[in-house]
Order: sequence, then structure tokens, then C-alpha cells
Amino acid sequence: MKESVMNHGDVNAIIPTKKRSPMNGQEDEPTVMKNKKQMKWNDPMASLADARHEFSEHGGVNMSIEASATFTVMEPETMRRMFTGELGPERDFFIYSRHFNPTVLGLSRQIAALEATEAAYCTSSGMAAISSVILQLCNSGGHLVASRTLYGGTYALFAHFLPRISGITTSFVDVKDLRAVEEAIVEGKTSVLYFESVSNPTLTVADVPELCRIGHAKGVTVVVDNTFAPMVLSPAKLGADVVVHSVSKYISGGADIIAGAVCGPARLLNSMMDLHQGSFMLLGPTMNPKVAFELSQRLPHLGIRMKEHCNRAFAYAMRLKKLGLQVIYPGLEDHPDHALMKSLGNKEYGFGGMFCVDMETEEKANHFMNLLQNYTQFGLMAVSLGFHETLMSCSGSSTSSELNDKEKALAGISPGLIRMSIGFSGTTEQRLNQLEMTLSRMQEGGLLNKY
Ligand SMILES: Cc1ncc(COP(=O)(O)O)c(C=O)c1O
Repeated sequence: MKESVMNHGDVNAIIPTKKRSPMNGQEDEPTVMKNKKQMKWNDPMASLADARHEFSEHGGVNMSIEASATFTVMEPETMRRMFTGELGPERDFFIYSRHFNPTVLGLSRQIAALEATEAAYCTSSGMAAISSVILQLCNSGGHLVASRTLYGGTYALFAHFLPRISGITTSFVDVKDLRAVEEAIVEGKTSVLYFESVSNPTLTVADVPELCRIGHAKGVTVVVDNTFAPMVLSPAKLGADVVVHSVSKYISGGADIIAGAVCGPARLLNSMMDLHQGSFMLLGPTMNPKVAFELSQRLPHLGIRMKEHCNRAFAYAMRLKKLGLQVIYPGLEDHPDHALMKSLGNKEYGFGGMFCVDMETEEKANHFMNLLQNYTQFGLMAVSLGFHETLMSCSGSSTSSELNDKEKALAGISPGLIRMSIGFSGTTEQRLNQLEMTLSRMQEGGLLNKY
């Protein structure tokens, strides 16, 4: 029996099995929570390929699913040492799967490599990731400064839920106004500056380096939601302390899983798992290891998928703009953040797979989406993003409906704004024809001027 199996073993394993050494000569590295490879980081796909590869217990090319909820020890003393924190996952000692689970940890290591952070840990949803990290970083009565253009659920969490249950308040600002951000941060009181790298739904690109400079000068932790731009932007490389994801979107890619991730310093992730004070450990936003395994199968082709989402979004956005629609896409030269995105983005990943079309009224927006789904089959009317099919929703009445009319106006969300997550199914030509047919039909119905 190998020593590691002597030290611990899952209670479902009757026959001890040989544990493979990880590839890349990292077998002695106590790096379960530390992505030391980040020093070599230059491209997210390269970084992912460089991350420690997990074999299964029997030498299979995929990592094992560690399905056990609890783990046994061979000597009673080991249990005490695990609970004092002396023995932990970095030396392959596991206690219970609400605490660290080896399969979730395997996926988390890959996500840390993707985001170039020292560590990461995955959660049951994007909201679980966001709420857990905020509750870890803020105390009761604390203060955040956040972008006023955020996913509606995050906005509601900050604007309504946190003040009610914990007295944590948020000042919402336009993060394009750097002076306003600086003025809103109260030194000694504000603990977090929070924004989305590319905002949902308006696709404003945050000046991550400048915002981090301002935040760090005032001693706050900068947390960036990179859900809209994995691979495209790497906020941690641009200065962010913490990166959060709704893994339910691009990283999953299948529109069949709800999941999240917190990426950041090992010290933070370990504190979130603390038995006495950790939000992961005590609130229990745990990812199922079977889900972690599924996701680990999808991460290796995230880069290829993102490139195709971006290529398609660029082609369709250009065509719609040429046909006279009001298109909001950072890849278009007339987008106010085009140059910024070009300077911050990772090379060869494009400008993201999302664009918006502003139809001015909700009625026109609904008519357009209805035809795109039911007449030409260009896409599906559904919330969410990152799927291989195009998904379309009118943001003001769906994923941003948590904001009232005044808040929507301040956030730049017009009533006719359609958010489109561009898929890569079908051929580009086929999809462009579908867009043109839809627009002709709108004109025939008198709902659109002739282009
Ligand atoms: C930018 C952004 N962050 C976070 C979330 C929440 O993620 P989840 O649905 O996985 O909880 C969403 C969901 O739409 C989102 O768009």
C-alpha cells in the first residue's frame, strides 16, 4: 500500500489503488492550492496546457471522480492534525467534500491556470462564488464600491440583500468615470471595488489596470467578474486581486450546468475554507465532484470555442451594422472602448462573443427576436450566454429587470436593448442570410426603415 493511501483513503475504496504521479515532474510539489506555473504565463490556452495534469487512480488519461463525501484515515492522530490544519489537501489529506474535494480541486487548479491566479476554488453557481467572496472580504456594516452596470442578480445582492442581512452597503458608480470611483472609495471603510470586465448587458469594457491602481492606492481588494470574457481578458494579469466567474456560461459552454468559481490568492481561498470563519466551509456553496469532472472535460476546448464565438460575433455585428441597425460591440471601431479592449485583450482571442442591438422599443425588440427564432431560426429567445446556439434576450425586461427604470437608465440599458450571445452552430453564410431575411420581413411589416 502506498504511503498516500495509508494516510488517507476514501471509505468507498476497498482495494487500495496505485496513485499516479502528475505529469511535468511536479510530483513532489505541495501545490494543491498554488498555481506556481503562473510565473510562465503568457497566454491563457498555453497556461491551461501547462497546468498540472491529473491522471485517474488507475492511470486513465482523465482525472478520477472522487465521489466520496467523507475520507478515512489510517491513524486516529491524523484526524486531529487535519482539523488543526497541519495536514491538508496540499499533501493529499482530505476531510469531507464540503471542505476540499480532490476532483473539484483538480478543476479549480485548471481554472486558476486559465485566470493566472495563485489559486481558485469552484462553487455551485456564479452567485455562490460572488456572495461567498464578498461575505469573506466584508464584515458586518462594511462598504463596497461597485459598477452601476452589473448582472441583475449581483445588483440585487448588493443593493437589497446585503444591506438587509448584514448592513453591508454599496455605492454604485459609473466605472468609466475614474474620478467618481476614487471619490466613492472611503479609506478604512470600503473593503472591495467590484466590477465586470465586460459589463452585462451594455458591453462596456472596464479599464482594469486603472481601476486596480485606484483601488490599491486606497487599500481595497479589487474583485472582477470575468464571466463575459474568459480567455479574451485576464483581469488578474491586469492587476485584479480576485476574479469570479459564472462557470454556467462560456466555461461550461453546454447550457446544462450551473457553476461558479473564485480565483485569487491562496491565502484568500484557504481563508474561505477555514473551519471556523470560512464562507465556503460555513455557507456550503459546494460544487458536486461529478459536475467538476464534466467541466474539466470542457475547459481544454474553451480557447477554441471562444475564438469561434468571437469570429462569429464580429461577422454578424459588422453585417447588422451595415444593414443599418444600432449595434453595440467592442469589436467595432465605433465602440467607445474598442481601443481599450484591443490594448487589454489577449492576442488572437478577439473582442468577445456578445453584442447588443438597440431596437429602441421593447415592442420592436420582441418582434425582431420572435422572427429570429420562429421565422429564420437564427437563435433562441433565452437568457444566459456562452452556448453553441445564439441566445437572445431583451435585457431590460429579463436579466436586468432587478433594476428600476431610473437605475436602468443610469446603467445605460435602453428598453429595446437585445443582448445576443453569439453561437457557432451552422455556417457563417447561413446565419448571415437568416439575419438578412429577418430584417426584410421586419421592413415588410413596416417595423423597420428600408436599408
Ligand atoms: C456577469 C454574470 N455574473 C454572474 C452571474 C450569476 O451566475 P450563475 O447564474 O451561475 O449563478 C451571471 C448570470 O447570468 C452573469 O451574467
